[in-house]
Amino acid sequence: MKMQQIKDIIVSNPDGREITIYGWVRTKRETKNLTFLQINDGSCFASIQLTFDAEKGIDAATAGELKKITTGASVKATGKLVPSPASGQAVEVETSSLTVLGEAPADTYPLQKKNHSFEFLREIAHLRARTNTFGAVARVRNQAAYAIHTFFQEHGFNFLNTPIITSSDTEGAGEMFQVTTLDLDKLAKEGKAPVDYSQDFFGKHASLTVSGQLEAETYATAVSRVYTFGPTFRAENSNTTRHLAEFWMVEPEAAFFDLNDNMDLAEEFLQFILKWVLEKCADDLQFFDSRIQNGLVDMLKTVAASDFVRLTYTEAITELEKNADVFEFKPYWGCDLQSEHEKYLTEKIYKCPVILTDYPKEIKAFYMKQNDDGKTVRAMDVLVPGLGEIIGGSEREENLEKLENRIRELGLNPDDYWWYLDLRRFGTVPHSGFGLGFERLILYITGMGNIRDVIPYPRTPKFAEF
Ligand code: 4AD
Ligand code: MG
Repeated sequence: MKMQQIKDIIVSNPDGREITIYGWVRTKRETKNLTFLQINDGSCFASIQLTFDAEKGIDAATAGELKKITTGASVKATGKLVPSPASGQAVEVETSSLTVLGEAPADTYPLQKKNHSFEFLREIAHLRARTNTFGAVARVRNQAAYAIHTFFQEHGFNFLNTPIITSSDTEGAGEMFQVTTLDLDKLAKEGKAPVDYSQDFFGKHASLTVSGQLEAETYATAVSRVYTFGPTFRAENSNTTRHLAEFWMVEPEAAFFDLNDNMDLAEEFLQFILKWVLEKCADDLQFFDSRIQNGLVDMLKTVAASDFVRLTYTEAITELEKNADVFEFKPYWGCDLQSEHEKYLTEKIYKCPVILTDYPKEIKAFYMKQNDDGKTVRAMDVLVPGLGEIIGGSEREENLEKLENRIRELGLNPDDYWWYLDLRRFGTVPHSGFGLGFERLILYITGMGNIRDVIPYPRTPKFAEF
């Protein structure tokens, strides 16, 4: 490709050669003889400066175009790339010609140069990527995705595409969005209840997937190591800064891995991503450090280089009980950990990521490997400061009888899981996996406070605009 982006131009040698710049105007500044435009194309955090010098002469066409320039206008400019005398930028463009590709009228363009609240920017999510913050989030998200694929490809994991429409509830939590082509209005008018799903498109009740795990297990027990990276859906009515109804999940699944291998994988994986983004998005992270969360870069560097703390759920409860008075929700053995508990462990006690294992079976999904104590399962959650759970996973129950019994115990029907149980009938092996919430990862890396601001178009209860 001949066309160069600003990210490459600003690090190239300012040797006076002629270049062409495309982008959107961030600011326009004028002195007596000089006009300066900051142009950003989103390829990197920095903008490039175009200078126009009246003393050296500006042609009539360009002078006319300059009059049209406002914040947000799109332009094409040509000129010479030269060293910049200004501080904070190595190069600038001595501009000889400018064309306005699209104007952005100052009285209607909503992104004028001032600080906008994230709440306001959510209402104009189609334009917010043109701001410093959301451009940086977009680039970090992209590099994190690249890191994820790179890590797994380098470790023998096969990228697997699991179905988005499914008839199985992996987590058994009943938080699924129904998929149907039945005319519900018509059925309601006809008073037809219960609904006959054999007449529906798939001939049965179908939903959007909450997780690709069960299908991933079928491939892990064939090609040994797989990972999914795709959209998942939860119809949970959680209006928090950490929950979305549609989010992206990364789910590795590996045959012959026990829980310790699984923990090692999760730790190495997270650290790989952090190092990658620290290297590839240094300017963006510096911005988040100075504007969103002080000390972010040092924190990420430390986490990338030090071991995570590992302890059992039971040990964690003992620790929490010692400080029971600080919690709104009193911790006790058997309780599902609340966000305040997770925060206390990671922020107050250990001050680093913590991997909790061996949770009570009652608060975990049916597929987790049962411990001999009859009470706990080989679950693991990775908790991080500021956020809580970022990864959830487990070693899987590979024993057919135990798995069938657990399914029955939970009031589920083993027949519905016939293909999943086949994996235990034929050549069963120990295997493990986990799910990383991609948006939780981006929250953690950027220090952003609300999960709605790290996905381009958030879907949450009562909100599906754009
Ligand atoms: O803990 P979860 O529910 O685990 C599973 O779905 C397993 N099937 C994963 C596996 O073992 N293959 O979800 C995994 C992660 C959570 O740790 C969290 O980071 C994220 O997915 N997550 C959400 N992220 C945003 N919004 C939501 N509503 C989320 N629910 C879970
Ligand atoms: Mg979980």
